[in-house]
Amino acid sequence: MVEFNRRIKPPPFKTKTIEHIKKTTHQERKMWLEEAGYNIFNIAAENVYIDLLTDSGTSAMSDYQWAGIMMGDEAYAHCKNFFNLKDVIQDITGFKYFIPTHQGRSAENLICYAFNLTQSKVSISNQFFDTTRANIETSGAEALDLIIPEAFDPSLMYDFKGNLDCKELVKTLENQDNVALIILTITNNTGGGQPVSMQNIREVSKIAKKYTIPFFLDAARFAENAYFIKLREEKYKDLTPKEIAKKTFSYADGCIVSAKKDGLVNIGGFIALNDEKIYLKIKERMVIVEGFPTYGGLAGRDLEALARGLVEVLSEEYLEYRYNQVQYLGNSLVEGGIPILLPVGGHSVNLDARRFLPHIPQAQFPGWSLVNALYERYGVRSVELGSVMQAKKDKDGTWQYPKLELVRLAIPRRVYSQEHLNYVTDSILDLYEHRSEIFGFEITYDPGVLRHFTARFKPIK
Ligand code: F0G
Repeated sequence: MVEFNRRIKPPPFKTKTIEHIKKTTHQERKMWLEEAGYNIFNIAAENVYIDLLTDSGTSAMSDYQWAGIMMGDEAYAHCKNFFNLKDVIQDITGFKYFIPTHQGRSAENLICYAFNLTQSKVSISNQFFDTTRANIETSGAEALDLIIPEAFDPSLMYDFKGNLDCKELVKTLENQDNVALIILTITNNTGGGQPVSMQNIREVSKIAKKYTIPFFLDAARFAENAYFIKLREEKYKDLTPKEIAKKTFSYADGCIVSAKKDGLVNIGGFIALNDEKIYLKIKERMVIVEGFPTYGGLAGRDLEALARGLVEVLSEEYLEYRYNQVQYLGNSLVEGGIPILLPVGGHSVNLDARRFLPHIPQAQFPGWSLVNALYERYGVRSVELGSVMQAKKDKDGTWQYPKLELVRLAIPRRVYSQEHLNYVTDSILDLYEHRSEIFGFEITYDPGVLRHFTARFKPIK
């Protein structure tokens, strides 16, 4: 059992503005779920008590960021805030060129275009996030995950479960000459917010150089990854998170970033890179699909809030608080005997649905069932990272189910208190006692690509 201290340090901020949340009844939530086709994405947010659907775009901004919103320069081209953001991004990443985008997936789309990821090409990652995979696959290319095998054992304690398997990478590069791009996801969201070590980043970089493959980071949670490196890689314990982040970026040729996570903003993203040709190609494309390249689908005020958020997120005090808060929820659940993915990740605690609901086969979506039960009984919204999101049909048309069936409790940044998290723990402990009452689901509408967002279901009773 993991030992932990119930008394975590207070957050390094206090509350200035509040948002009311509403308690609803079990009966109401049952009805809403039925109307929603048992898809949690269809539930109105105001009917959610504690919303752990995502840590993306859900951060609370600081007064300094809100003040920045008032400093928005809404000129069409080359507004003041573009230059402010450019300075901050160049300072952190060291990359020569920077392009704002309205969120992460548009950065992914532009990168797929710029690197010409069409048929017969392959892109390799530790583990692609679902939108990155979808962008690559809809461009016609193959998205290949090469995560280390340790990542698939949910109870194995391992410091850097997000690492890419370098032996497999070399093997693939020796046998295939169609690999067009390597994208390392830091931290690995799909695998439960697990960090990637600096040693692994350096090794991937070395291999990429040897085989002359461009190497990018999907750096949505780069600050959280830097903090894990500080805590778990002896060599970096005396560096600041910013110094570690800089070092991380120094090994790559560029990055794509959803700023809705560690950017501490509600919307935004960017690409930063060194290759001028690729930069120009993206810039040309931008004008058609995203906006003039200095605003990238964002308002001047959004750029300013992001410039300020990227500085705040690298505060060591903030990252310590963030780390402790997520660990606190995970450790409370472990203490109560709940099967979760270990070690606890950077932005989320992930329930192991297969061990939570061993009576539901993967073909009946145990993760999805758990998400529904958590909302129906307690008003807590989570998200499935399991068979609905990741199962795939093989060439013979047989469904292949993912090795991990997780339910992610993603913690929005600077939003919920320890008391809120205690409520979540108590809910899950109660649900665990009643787990035999939970049933599986079948799909009644399957849209294909990214089906978890819009699929509809019915319970198997
Ligand atoms: N990369 C990673 C690692 C992500 O986690 C996400 C989004 C994206 C790219 C896409 O960014 O949403 O700004 O277009 N993750 C969200 C989540 C949706 O809930 O984990 P986006």
